[in-house]
Amino acid sequence: MAVPFEVVRAPAEMRARAEDQRRDGRRVCVVPTMGYLHDGHVSLLRAGRSRADLLVMSLFVNPTQFAAGEDLSRYPRDEAGDLDKARAAGVDLVFAPDAAAMYPDGYQTTVEVRGLAAPLEGRSRPGHFSGVASVVAKLFHLTMPHVAIFGQKDYQQLLIVRRMVRDLDFGVEIVGMPIAREPDGLAMSSRNAYLSPEERAQAVCLSRGLRAAESLHAGGERGAGALVAAARAPIEASPLARIDHVELRDAETLAEIDRASAPAVLAMAVHFGRTRLIDNALLG
Ligand code: PAJ
Repeated sequence: MAVPFEVVRAPAEMRARAEDQRRDGRRVCVVPTMGYLHDGHVSLLRAGRSRADLLVMSLFVNPTQFAAGEDLSRYPRDEAGDLDKARAAGVDLVFAPDAAAMYPDGYQTTVEVRGLAAPLEGRSRPGHFSGVASVVAKLFHLTMPHVAIFGQKDYQQLLIVRRMVRDLDFGVEIVGMPIAREPDGLAMSSRNAYLSPEERAQAVCLSRGLRAAESLHAGGERGAGALVAAARAPIEASPLARIDHVELRDAETLAEIDRASAPAVLAMAVHFGRTRLIDNALLG
């Protein structure tokens, strides 16, 4: 039977709901989020709506994917607003557990996806992807989805989830959705809320860099040095921006490459004050 829009907080209750739905032959989709929803999240929800009978959105700011000194305590939250947006996007059930329910005393298990988690975000944020893979594994066990939707904005995360699902036989179809952008090109992110007006104005340098590299690539350039230099130029010209990394890597393995002969991903992380923004583009 279809469920009216509801919020479930207890993991055991979430699991029971999912089991009921599967027993009734209904197709379940989950869209994992940390809330503070924007149109990028909503595009994932809409994609999920068209693929399932029961659309579940998880809303959980997962503490284990934040390192000490990162922005866990100030991560933006607006549960009432998120529930309105979720309902409007056609979500049936929001799973919003608290941290104590997800990580009770004595919790000691993690999932490590070794190779794919090592470079890029993994190098700058040690432990981050262990937290992500572990919580996504838990969310899959609790929501029992047939299909789950992730954004290409977090490209490395998408690859890691795909790898985990394959390696550990989760039997969940993983769908990746394109990056939703503001009119000026800035990738939508909950963390954009941290930016001052001056930082926000300059933050367009990330997508400008990606576009510059894309047009070089479209013109036939394949050398990593030239593509990365083109991507860096507008960022280096922005006084408030500080580059963490801009790298060209194999789009499937994330191995370092000198030339974009096979499909490649140009991935970047840039600091504006205390705010860290990421973006990427697929080449080829
Ligand atoms: P969060 O940052 O809230 O993102 C939730 C989902 O929305 C992710 O799949 C992310 O890639 C996608 N997303 C974010 N910005 C997007 C954009 N501009 N366009 C398209 N999709 C976008 O990613 C997480 O939460 C967490 O790591 C999570 C997977 C929930 C595990 O805690």
